[in-house]
Amino acid sequence: MHVEQGIRTNRIIIAIDGPAASGKSTTARKVARMLGYTYIDTGAMYRSVTLKAIRRNVIDDLRRSPESVVALLEDITIRFDGDHVYLDGTDVTEAIRDNRVSREVSFISSLKPVRDRLRQMQQELGKLRGVVMDGRDIGTIVFPDAELKIFLVADARERAERRYAELKAKSNGASGLPGIEELEEEIKERDRADAEREHAPLRKHPDATEIDTSDLSVEQQVRKVYELALALLKEDR
Ligand code: CDP
Repeated sequence: MHVEQGIRTNRIIIAIDGPAASGKSTTARKVARMLGYTYIDTGAMYRSVTLKAIRRNVIDDLRRSPESVVALLEDITIRFDGDHVYLDGTDVTEAIRDNRVSREVSFISSLKPVRDRLRQMQQELGKLRGVVMDGRDIGTIVFPDAELKIFLVADARERAERRYAELKAKSNGASGLPGIEELEEEIKERDRADAEREHAPLRKHPDATEIDTSDLSVEQQVRKVYELALALLKEDR
């Protein structure tokens, strides 16, 4: 339970972490809708900073002098409106899913000034609680006091197949889709980078409930998380 200005608000924070394409965003979005909570996709925030670096053509400069990333963060704004993400006032919902962004995002998100800035924004967004937030470090670093912490995992091949199906559905038959093998390699590489980085590496919090989604349908995984949330909310009454 969260008490604010003497009002018993009974709204919790649900932190969903896990490796790439493990089903975090689908699960988080649906659970948020079922509870009337706000969904916050922190991956979209890291992707937005990455897109900004790509658009400004500074990725190579940043590899040489990572501290110059502060210039990129100075006047940045990231805003969520329903399922849309706005970077500096422009809708980037589609652009942040680009493969170039996926390839560079682990590098950008390993930079401490980026993590410090986004963590601050995320803590602000979750201040009133009643949020489902997904990412890599939500239960460990951003909201270690989240009442419900979930760690979603799935077999790498299964995750590559899901990502492929997602890209295919979006491509409308356009050519140039990466193959499943290539996606699996990219996913494994990103997992490695996210788990081995110095700042806020991907880790399961000891209190987190681990759910393997390899053999679960979306409905089954959503139900598991929703039921855990309901049990906590009932306990609180
Ligand atoms: O959806 P997908 O699993 O492909 O990735 P995402 O959630 O959009 O996150 C993209 C990348 O952002 C991750 O691979 C991490 O490098 C980074 N990230 C992070 O460092 N911390 C977070 N809380 C969320 C994402």
